[in-house]
Amino acid sequence: MNSVLVASNRGPVSFTVSDDGVLTMKRGGGGLVSGLSGVLKDDGVLWICAALSDGDRGAVRQAPGGRLDQAGYDTGALRMLDIPPATFHRAYNAVANSTLWFVNHLLYDIPNAPLFGTRFQREWESYRDYNGAFALALAEEAGHGARVMVQDYHLTLTPAMLRAERPDLRIAHFSHTPWAPPEYFSLLPDEVAREVLEGILGADHAGFLTERWAGAFMDCCRALLGAEVDLAARTVTHEGRTTHIGVHGLGVDGAALWERAHEPDVESNMAALREQVGDRRLIVRIDRTELSKNIVRGLVAYREFLLAHPEWHGRVVHLAFAYPSRHDLPEYREYTASVQRCAQEIEDEFGTEDWEPLILNVNDDYPRSLAAYRLADVLLVNPIRDGMNLVAKEGPILSPRAALVLSREAGAAAELGAHALLVNPYDVTGTAVALHDALVMPEEERTRRRELLEAAATALPPQKWFAAQLDALA
Ligand code: G6P
Repeated sequence: MNSVLVASNRGPVSFTVSDDGVLTMKRGGGGLVSGLSGVLKDDGVLWICAALSDGDRGAVRQAPGGRLDQAGYDTGALRMLDIPPATFHRAYNAVANSTLWFVNHLLYDIPNAPLFGTRFQREWESYRDYNGAFALALAEEAGHGARVMVQDYHLTLTPAMLRAERPDLRIAHFSHTPWAPPEYFSLLPDEVAREVLEGILGADHAGFLTERWAGAFMDCCRALLGAEVDLAARTVTHEGRTTHIGVHGLGVDGAALWERAHEPDVESNMAALREQVGDRRLIVRIDRTELSKNIVRGLVAYREFLLAHPEWHGRVVHLAFAYPSRHDLPEYREYTASVQRCAQEIEDEFGTEDWEPLILNVNDDYPRSLAAYRLADVLLVNPIRDGMNLVAKEGPILSPRAALVLSREAGAAAELGAHALLVNPYDVTGTAVALHDALVMPEEERTRRRELLEAAATALPPQKWFAAQLDALA
């Protein structure tokens, strides 16, 4: 039996299956997986995740009990849940990614406002079933009094469901996203909003990345549940139970990242990039192609910068990494197309025979992004809203001279804001000014700020972040 269990939708690895049935393993992506991979190697720790694709389902069916034990994973024991594809699709795409993610990142606008009808009720049922499947697996696998760490917006109902089955367990929930203020969160149907909040309050400890998101959650509990909130003690008491609220600002393992970024595949990518861009200055961004990452406005800001500063033509290149993400959702496919359109317009408007002003990378290429970090003069991180944003933290560790242009709406701004150039992510003119300021920043100031950024970015590496939450459950 296990003494520590982690549950998340996406696991540390995923599988693809070729036409002749051969399974190939790949690392999972996103902030949650980056944070947790590598800290869960101890005996007695089990990571439970969902099978996300046909490849994953193939791997699960070949593994007894869905347990992909140790075999080549540097993440320890892993169990993948084979949830029926239609249930998974409704829970992951329709509820988690199209509804809860949109609410917490404030992504709805008038032409794209939510419509909660009978179809949503069915999708919500599936979300319940999917959360129930995790609760069941956790209840089966957990030893008496074990500590269970439930992750993110996919699994908001699991803590309360699990508590009902196994009151002996110590349960934590952690939100890797922002949290919406009550007036926005209450876009959700009343009973759904209530179930989400009460689901998380089923945990003993509810963790958030920043004070701001923790505060918004407590505000929602007070406004929508009438719960008793003690801001100083950081507790929420509802129907006779008290949940402690914690703030744990996930950081980066600087030494491990540094080591990975100095492997030969990264060195060769650096050489190739240098060959491609010569000695021009580099403005780098690295994101999933995600609506909240605000890539289009970042490109428009770069265009405004080029318009305002012809003296930089031919002397700067914007390297934009926009990796594919959530392509089952039409919003994401459309967004990818608009990023590509906007990039093409910049290329057409400013490109010359010997200067490519913008290089857009749309394929997942980790070694090439690490190479870009190391070569960057400016790192642009301008999300509309973001739980933390680890790119803002990885950059200063790897780049010897990059200045950071950072959205004030990223969770990372709480820790890095004093040493970055902060921008309003909607204000592209302001962002263009910040790009210019970052390019012309004197060397001494760059070095001073970079050192402070690196110190802040590595203050709470994943090992300590995870240990702090385990301690909170002790
Ligand atoms: C964010 C979420 C994670 C998620 C990641 C990638 O970081 O907080 O839970 O795994 O995005 O998104 P995906 O839908 O591909 O898992």
